[in-house]
Amino acid sequence: MFNELGIAIGFSLTLIAVLMHFSRGTGWTSNEDISQEVLERRAESVPETDFPEPMNRSIGGGAPTGAIGGGEAGGELAEGGEEAEEESGPGDIPEDEIEYYEIEFVKEGETIEVANNETILEAGEDEGWDLPYACREGSCVSCAGQIDGNTSDFIEHDDQSMLGDAELEDGYTLTCVAYPRGEFSIETGEQP
Ligand code: FES
Repeated sequence: MFNELGIAIGFSLTLIAVLMHFSRGTGWTSNEDISQEVLERRAESVPETDFPEPMNRSIGGGAPTGAIGGGEAGGELAEGGEEAEEESGPGDIPEDEIEYYEIEFVKEGETIEVANNETILEAGEDEGWDLPYACREGSCVSCAGQIDGNTSDFIEHDDQSMLGDAELEDGYTLTCVAYPRGEFSIETGEQP
C-alpha cells in the first residue's frame, strides 16, 4: 500500500519536474544601459576650469594636465629640478671669462700659468709634479701649501673646512680646492 503511494508520489514529482523543464518562462531582458547617460550628467555637473586639476576630474572640466601633455605645472617642476642641480662652485666659470695667472711654485723652481677654473693641485699635476694630496675635497690638510700673502686675497676655496681665519691670513691654502684669483708664489707641502 505504502509502496504504491510512494511510487505514485515519486512519479508525479518527476513528471512535474519534466514539465517545468520544457515549459517556457516569461523570459528576461536587461534594462537599458544608462551608464553613458550617467557619465554625461556627471560631466555637466563639473565646472570648467583653466588651471590644472588633480586626476579625480578626469571627466568633463579640468583636464588632467599633470599626467597628459605635461602642462605648465609639470614644466615648472622640471625647471625647478634643474635649478636645484645647478650648484655652481668657484671652478664653474664660462669659457669667455677664463683668466690665467702666473703662479710661482717655489720648491719646483718654476712659474706656470694657472687658469681661474682649475685648482692649484691640478695645475701642478699637469706639469708632471708629484704633489701631496689625499681626499681632494678640502677635508684634510694633505695638500696644503703656503702662499706669500693673505690667502683670501689671492685664492677662492671650494668648500674647504680645515683652515681657520688665522691660517688663511698666514697664507695657508688647500691646493686641491684652491682656485687662483691673482698672482702669487706658493710653497707646496707646507701645513699649518
Ligand atoms: S687633499 Fe685633502 S684637503 Fe686637499
